[in-house]
Amino acid sequence: VEVWAVVVAAGSGSRFGGPKQYEDLAGRRVLDWSVEAARGATDGVVLVVPANRSADAEPAADAVVSGGDSRSASVRAGLARVPSSADVVVVHDAARPLASPELFRAVIDAVAHGADGAVPGIAVTDTVKRVRDGVVEETLDRASLVAVQTPQAFAASVLRRAHAARSDASDDAALVEAIGGRVVVVPGEVANVKLTTADELALVASQAARR
Ligand code: CTP
Ligand code: MG
Repeated sequence: VEVWAVVVAAGSGSRFGGPKQYEDLAGRRVLDWSVEAARGATDGVVLVVPANRSADAEPAADAVVSGGDSRSASVRAGLARVPSSADVVVVHDAARPLASPELFRAVIDAVAHGADGAVPGIAVTDTVKRVRDGVVEETLDRASLVAVQTPQAFAASVLRRAHAARSDASDDAALVEAIGGRVVVVPGEVANVKLTTADELALVASQAARR
Protein backbone atom coordinates (compact mmCIF):
# COMPACT_ATOMS: atom_id res chain seq x y z
CA VAL A 1 0.00 0.00 0.00
CA GLU A 2 1.49 3.35 -1.03
CA VAL A 3 0.71 5.99 1.60
CA TRP A 4 1.20 9.74 1.30
CA ALA A 5 0.61 12.50 3.84
CA VAL A 6 -0.65 16.03 3.28
CA VAL A 7 0.40 18.27 6.17
CA VAL A 8 -1.56 21.53 6.11
CA ALA A 9 0.38 24.50 7.49
CA ALA A 10 -1.08 27.38 5.48
CA GLY A 11 -3.25 28.99 8.16
CA SER A 12 -2.71 32.47 9.58
CA GLY A 13 -3.24 31.57 13.23
CA SER A 14 -5.70 34.38 13.92
CA ARG A 15 -6.70 33.01 17.34
CA PHE A 16 -3.06 32.40 18.25
CA GLY A 17 -1.97 35.85 17.10
CA GLY A 18 0.31 34.73 14.26
CA PRO A 19 1.37 31.69 12.23
CA LYS A 20 1.69 29.24 15.13
CA GLN A 21 3.09 26.49 12.90
CA TYR A 22 6.42 28.39 12.76
CA GLU A 23 6.78 28.86 16.54
CA ASP A 24 9.65 27.14 18.33
CA LEU A 25 8.71 23.98 20.20
CA ALA A 26 11.59 22.44 22.19
CA GLY A 27 14.15 23.47 19.57
CA ARG A 28 12.25 22.75 16.37
CA ARG A 29 9.37 24.50 14.66
CA VAL A 30 5.85 23.24 15.37
CA LEU A 31 5.48 22.11 11.75
CA ASP A 32 8.77 20.15 11.89
CA TRP A 33 7.27 17.95 14.60
CA SER A 34 4.17 17.34 12.49
CA VAL A 35 6.12 16.59 9.29
CA GLU A 36 8.47 14.23 11.13
CA ALA A 37 5.59 12.22 12.63
CA ALA A 38 4.05 11.96 9.15
CA ARG A 39 7.36 10.90 7.57
CA GLY A 40 7.71 8.11 10.09
CA ALA A 41 4.55 6.40 8.87
CA THR A 42 4.26 7.25 5.15
CA ASP A 43 6.06 6.99 1.79
CA GLY A 44 5.98 10.73 1.11
CA VAL A 45 4.90 14.05 2.56
CA VAL A 46 3.39 17.07 0.81
CA LEU A 47 3.65 20.19 2.96
CA VAL A 48 1.19 23.04 2.36
CA VAL A 49 2.48 26.47 3.44
CA PRO A 50 1.19 30.07 3.28
CA ALA A 51 1.52 31.69 -0.15
CA ASN A 52 4.10 34.18 1.16
CA ARG A 53 6.51 31.49 2.42
CA SER A 54 9.35 30.03 0.40
CA ALA A 55 8.99 26.43 -0.72
CA ASP A 56 12.80 26.01 -0.67
CA ALA A 57 13.15 26.12 3.10
CA GLU A 58 11.49 22.75 3.73
CA PRO A 59 13.93 19.91 2.95
CA ALA A 60 12.00 17.41 5.10
CA ALA A 61 9.03 17.41 2.71
CA ASP A 62 8.92 15.70 -0.69
CA ALA A 63 6.89 18.56 -2.13
CA VAL A 64 5.90 22.01 -0.88
CA VAL A 65 2.90 23.90 -2.23
CA SER A 66 1.02 27.10 -1.39
CA GLY A 67 -2.28 26.81 0.45
CA GLY A 68 -5.66 28.40 -0.09
CA ASP A 69 -8.13 30.63 1.73
CA SER A 70 -9.69 27.79 3.72
CA ARG A 71 -8.33 24.63 5.30
CA SER A 72 -10.21 22.54 2.74
CA ALA A 73 -8.69 24.57 -0.12
CA SER A 74 -5.25 23.99 1.37
CA VAL A 75 -5.88 20.24 1.53
CA ARG A 76 -6.91 20.31 -2.14
CA ALA A 77 -3.69 22.13 -3.06
CA GLY A 78 -1.70 19.40 -1.31
CA LEU A 79 -3.77 16.58 -2.74
CA ALA A 80 -3.04 17.83 -6.25
CA ARG A 81 0.64 17.04 -5.62
CA VAL A 82 0.12 13.55 -4.20
CA PRO A 83 1.19 11.02 -6.86
CA SER A 84 -1.67 9.21 -8.59
CA SER A 85 -0.04 5.93 -7.49
CA ALA A 86 -0.93 6.62 -3.83
CA ASP A 87 -3.49 4.21 -2.36
CA VAL A 88 -3.99 5.96 0.98
CA VAL A 89 -3.74 9.67 1.82
CA VAL A 90 -3.36 10.90 5.40
CA VAL A 91 -4.27 14.52 6.11
CA HIS A 92 -2.70 16.13 9.17
CA ASP A 93 -2.85 19.58 10.79
CA ALA A 94 0.62 21.07 11.26
CA ALA A 95 -0.89 22.59 14.41
CA ARG A 96 -0.96 19.12 16.04
CA PRO A 97 2.77 18.60 16.64
CA LEU A 98 2.38 15.82 19.23
CA ALA A 99 0.57 13.22 17.12
CA SER A 100 2.63 10.02 17.22
CA PRO A 101 3.72 7.89 14.24
CA GLU A 102 1.70 5.10 15.92
CA LEU A 103 -1.46 7.19 15.57
CA PHE A 104 -0.69 7.66 11.86
CA ARG A 105 -0.24 3.90 11.55
CA ALA A 106 -3.55 3.20 13.33
CA VAL A 107 -5.63 5.31 10.92
CA ILE A 108 -3.70 4.02 7.90
CA ASP A 109 -4.27 0.40 9.01
CA ALA A 110 -8.02 0.95 9.32
CA VAL A 111 -8.16 2.19 5.71
CA ALA A 112 -5.85 -0.60 4.51
CA HIS A 113 -8.43 -2.98 6.01
CA GLY A 114 -11.29 -1.53 3.99
CA ALA A 115 -12.67 1.65 5.58
CA ASP A 116 -13.14 4.69 3.31
CA GLY A 117 -11.73 6.85 6.08
CA ALA A 118 -10.42 6.64 9.64
CA VAL A 119 -10.19 9.40 12.25
CA PRO A 120 -8.81 9.50 15.81
CA GLY A 121 -11.55 10.19 18.35
CA ILE A 122 -11.57 10.95 22.08
CA ALA A 123 -14.61 10.41 24.27
CA VAL A 124 -16.16 13.73 25.30
CA THR A 125 -15.94 14.26 29.07
CA ASP A 126 -17.70 17.62 29.27
CA THR A 127 -21.46 17.81 28.88
CA VAL A 128 -22.22 19.32 25.47
CA LYS A 129 -25.26 21.53 24.82
CA ARG A 130 -26.65 23.05 21.65
CA VAL A 131 -27.07 26.78 22.27
CA ARG A 132 -28.72 29.56 20.30
CA ASP A 133 -28.42 33.24 21.28
CA GLY A 134 -27.13 32.26 24.71
CA VAL A 135 -30.03 29.94 25.50
CA VAL A 136 -29.75 26.17 25.72
CA GLU A 137 -31.84 24.34 23.15
CA GLU A 138 -30.73 20.80 23.85
CA THR A 139 -28.33 18.66 25.87
CA LEU A 140 -26.65 16.12 23.62
CA ASP A 141 -26.11 12.49 24.56
CA ARG A 142 -22.44 12.47 25.55
CA ALA A 143 -22.16 8.71 25.16
CA SER A 144 -22.53 9.02 21.40
CA LEU A 145 -20.08 11.93 20.97
CA VAL A 146 -16.34 11.91 20.22
CA ALA A 147 -13.94 14.81 19.70
CA VAL A 148 -12.09 14.18 16.46
CA GLN A 149 -8.42 14.86 15.69
CA THR A 150 -5.99 14.52 12.81
CA PRO A 151 -4.20 12.54 11.30
CA GLN A 152 -7.17 11.36 9.21
CA ALA A 153 -6.56 8.63 6.64
CA PHE A 154 -8.61 7.97 3.50
CA ALA A 155 -8.68 5.76 0.46
CA ALA A 156 -7.06 8.13 -2.04
CA SER A 157 -9.81 7.83 -4.65
CA VAL A 158 -12.52 8.54 -2.07
CA LEU A 159 -10.74 11.62 -0.73
CA ARG A 160 -10.22 12.98 -4.25
CA ARG A 161 -13.93 12.46 -5.00
CA ALA A 162 -14.95 14.09 -1.70
CA HIS A 163 -12.91 17.18 -2.57
CA ALA A 164 -14.07 17.35 -6.19
CA ALA A 165 -17.08 19.49 -5.20
CA ARG A 166 -14.61 22.06 -3.77
CA SER A 167 -16.72 22.57 -0.63
CA ASP A 168 -15.43 23.56 2.80
CA ALA A 169 -15.71 21.72 6.11
CA SER A 170 -13.69 21.80 9.32
CA ASP A 171 -12.23 18.36 8.57
CA ASP A 172 -11.83 16.03 5.61
CA ALA A 173 -13.93 13.27 7.10
CA ALA A 174 -17.00 15.55 6.89
CA LEU A 175 -16.54 15.80 3.10
CA VAL A 176 -16.17 12.02 2.84
CA GLU A 177 -19.27 11.52 5.02
CA ALA A 178 -21.17 13.89 2.71
CA ILE A 179 -20.58 11.60 -0.28
CA GLY A 180 -21.67 8.55 1.73
CA GLY A 181 -18.24 7.26 2.74
CA ARG A 182 -17.80 4.96 5.73
CA VAL A 183 -15.51 6.64 8.27
CA VAL A 184 -14.36 4.64 11.29
CA VAL A 185 -13.00 5.97 14.59
CA VAL A 186 -9.78 4.75 16.20
CA PRO A 187 -8.65 5.77 19.71
CA GLY A 188 -7.17 9.27 19.66
CA GLU A 189 -4.35 10.58 21.83
CA VAL A 190 -5.02 12.98 24.72
CA ALA A 191 -1.64 14.68 24.13
CA ASN A 192 -2.51 15.30 20.48
CA VAL A 193 -3.98 18.75 21.07
CA LYS A 194 -4.44 21.30 18.31
CA LEU A 195 -2.38 24.35 19.16
CA THR A 196 -5.01 27.10 18.97
CA THR A 197 -4.23 29.93 21.42
CA ALA A 198 -0.90 31.36 22.57
CA ASP A 199 -1.26 30.15 26.17
CA GLU A 200 -1.38 26.56 24.89
CA LEU A 201 2.16 26.80 23.51
CA ALA A 202 3.76 26.47 26.97
CA LEU A 203 1.53 23.47 27.70
CA VAL A 204 2.48 21.76 24.45
CA ALA A 205 6.16 22.68 24.94
CA SER A 206 6.29 20.98 28.33
CA GLN A 207 4.95 17.79 26.72
CA ALA A 208 7.37 18.11 23.79
CA ALA A 209 10.35 18.51 26.12
CA ARG A 210 9.62 15.05 27.54
CA ARG A 211 9.79 13.33 24.13
N1 CTP B 1 -4.80 25.66 7.55
C1 CTP B 1 -4.36 25.71 6.23
N2 CTP B 1 -4.92 26.63 5.37
C2 CTP B 1 -5.90 27.45 5.78
C3 CTP B 1 -6.37 27.38 7.12
C4 CTP B 1 -5.81 26.46 7.98
O1 CTP B 1 -3.46 24.97 5.86
N3 CTP B 1 -6.40 28.34 4.90
C5 CTP B 1 -4.16 24.72 8.48
C6 CTP B 1 -3.50 25.40 9.67
O2 CTP B 1 -2.18 25.86 9.33
C7 CTP B 1 -3.52 24.31 10.74
C8 CTP B 1 -4.74 23.46 10.35
O3 CTP B 1 -5.12 23.86 9.04
O4 CTP B 1 -2.35 23.52 10.71
C9 CTP B 1 -5.89 23.63 11.33
O5 CTP B 1 -6.37 24.97 11.27
P1 CTP B 1 -6.47 25.97 12.51
O6 CTP B 1 -6.03 25.30 13.75
O7 CTP B 1 -7.79 26.63 12.43
O8 CTP B 1 -5.29 27.03 12.16
P2 CTP B 1 -5.44 28.50 11.62
O9 CTP B 1 -6.52 28.56 10.59
O10 CTP B 1 -4.09 28.96 11.22
O11 CTP B 1 -5.87 29.29 12.93
P3 CTP B 1 -7.12 30.31 13.10
O12 CTP B 1 -8.36 29.53 12.70
O13 CTP B 1 -7.09 30.69 14.54
O14 CTP B 1 -6.86 31.46 12.17
MG1 MG C 1 -8.57 28.09 11.12
